[in-house]
Parts: sequence; C-alpha cells; structure tokens
Amino acid sequence: MAIKLNHTIVHSKDPRAAAEFYSGVFGLPAAKPFGPFLDVNVANEVTLAFLSAEGMEVQMQHYAFLVSETEFDQIFGRIKQRRLKFWADPGQKQAGEINHHFGGRGVYFQDPSGHLLEIITQPYGPFPK
Ligand SMILES: [Fe+2]
Repeated sequence: MAIKLNHTIVHSKDPRAAAEFYSGVFGLPAAKPFGPFLDVNVANEVTLAFLSAEGMEVQMQHYAFLVSETEFDQIFGRIKQRRLKFWADPGQKQAGEINHHFGGRGVYFQDPSGHLLEIITQPYGPFPK
C-alpha cells in the first residue's frame, strides 16, 4: 500500500494563532505561508494547513499525534505551563488526568479553535477483550 496522508486543512478562528499554538506546544518548526494557508509539517510528511474559517463556525475535528516518551514529557510540560485544560478521555470527563492505554501515555487537550488534540506514546492497538 503506497497511500499516505499528505495534508489536511485545519479550519481555524485565527490561523496565525493556531499555527503558532501547534508550533509552540508541539515544538515544531514555525509555519510557512502557502497561498491562503499557514503550513506546519509533522515528522511523517503530513502538512497541517491552517486556514481561516472566514467567520463560519469551526466544526470540531480530532487530530492525534504519536510522540516519543521524551516528546510526551516536553509537550505535556508545555500544556501544563500554559495552564491548558487536559483530559484522559475524548469525552473530556476525566479532567486533569492522563491515560495509560496500550501500555503508553495519552492525553487530550484543545487548540485555540476547539479542535480536540491528542498525544499518545503508543498507537491504538487491539482493545482488551
Ligand atoms: Fe484519538
């Protein structure tokens, strides 16, 4: 299978603030303008293309990032430093906690537009029976 996700548009209330948020919290290179987009690249060649929602209501999307244990510590440190709310679950019920699914660590938080972000140190595996 040769198909790879290459880019996705992240509709944002304020694309500049959103791109800076992703670069800052994740420790990624600064966004590069590309036409109407502000592009932030992650390690597996996927581009997050931030685009203004042009005053429309932003439909919440979910973006999950697989990170190393060290990166988790760094990113989670920035989440706490910025006093962002975080949850152990996507339903945002377990506030202030992280999860340990699939033998790793995971946590959910929101970007400035309300998209639900997740960092995990282990990819989702088979659910326990
Ligand atoms: Fe997820």
